Amino acid sequence: MTHAEHIPVMTREMLDIIQPEQCQAVVDATYGRGGHATAIYCRLPPHARLVLVDRDPEAIAHAKAAWQAIQEVDIVHAPFSRLSEELKALNLFGRVDAVIFDFGVSSPQLDSRDRGFSFSHDGPLDMRMDNSSGPTALEWIISTPEKKLAQALRDYGEERLSRVIASSIKRALSNGSIQTTRDLEKVVVAAQPFKDKHKHPATRTFQAIRIAVNEELSEIERGLEQALEALSPGGRLVAISFHSMEDRIVKRFIRNESRGDPYPPDFPVFSNMIHPRLRQIGRHLKPSAEEIHVNPRSRSAVFRAAQKVA
Ligand SMILES: C[S@@+](CC[C@H](N)C(=O)[O-])C[C@H]1O[C@@H](n2cnc3c(N)ncnc32)[C@H](O)[C@@H]1O
Repeated sequence: MTHAEHIPVMTREMLDIIQPEQCQAVVDATYGRGGHATAIYCRLPPHARLVLVDRDPEAIAHAKAAWQAIQEVDIVHAPFSRLSEELKALNLFGRVDAVIFDFGVSSPQLDSRDRGFSFSHDGPLDMRMDNSSGPTALEWIISTPEKKLAQALRDYGEERLSRVIASSIKRALSNGSIQTTRDLEKVVVAAQPFKDKHKHPATRTFQAIRIAVNEELSEIERGLEQALEALSPGGRLVAISFHSMEDRIVKRFIRNESRGDPYPPDFPVFSNMIHPRLRQIGRHLKPSAEEIHVNPRSRSAVFRAAQKVA
C-alpha cells in the first residue's frame, strides 16, 4: 500500500475529524494513490468496511493491486456523483460513518505526460480523469463554440483575457496547429501581451479546460449531496479543496445545510421547525507551514468538515 507517488494532504487533521477507531464504514471518495485510505485503514476496528472510489482507471488499478485481497475493502470505479447508487449496491447507504473528498488531480495524473494535464510535459491534450470515456480536452476545445470556450476560461480559470485566448485557440485549431499540451501552451502564451510574474500564463487556461472536461464543479455539488444522504446520523464529512471554486461550493453546501429549512425573513421560526442536516465542525483549516515545506503541492489546500445532525 505505497503512496510514494502522491503525498496525502492534511492527513492528521482528517484523522482527528473522522476518528476511524469509532467507525464501522468509511468511504474514501477520491482514492488517488491511497495515502488517506491507508491512514484510515490502519486505525479502523476489525471488520469495519472501507470503500475506495475513484473515476481514474489507473487509480483503480493501483487500488486493486494493493487492496483486492482484503475482504472488508470495496473498490469502486465511478465518479463520486454516483456515490448513492454505488453505496446502495454495497448495502451501505445511510450507514456510512465518514466520507472524505480530496478534490482535484493526483500527482501521478499531473506528472504523467500521457495524461495531458500539464504543460510542463509535451503530451496528448487529454486531461480526462477517467480516460476510458468522454471527450478529451482536444475534442472538447474543437467542439466548443468560441463564446462558450471564452466563458469557460473566465468562469473556471478566472482568466481576464478569456476572449482573446479563446479566439487564438480557435484560430490555431483551424489551421491544425494544436495537437499537444505544448502546442496549446504556446498559443496561450502568445495571446498574452503582459506576463504575470508569479503565474505561468497558461495556468488559468489549463485549469479551466480541465474543470470543464471533467465537469468537476457539478461533480462536487452532486458528490457532497449524496455523501450527506449516505452518512449515518452523526457521520462526518471531510472535504479538502485546492482552489477557490471548489472551496466555495463546499463552504456554501455546509452553510446552507447547517441553516436548515428556509423561511421568509419576517416569519416566526422556532428551532424545532428548522431541521438542519449538518453541523459545521470548527473553522476551515490550512496546512501547517511544516506540511507546506515538506509538500509544496499542499499549499493551496483548504480543509472543511461537518457532521450529519443526528
Ligand atoms: C488529490 S487526488 C486524491 C489523493 C488521495 N487522497 C491520496 O491520498 O492518495 C484526487 C483523486 O480524486 C479523483 N477524482 C477527482 N474527481 C473525482 C470524481 N468526481 N469522482 C471520482 N474520483 C474523482 C482523481 O481521479 C484523483 O485520483
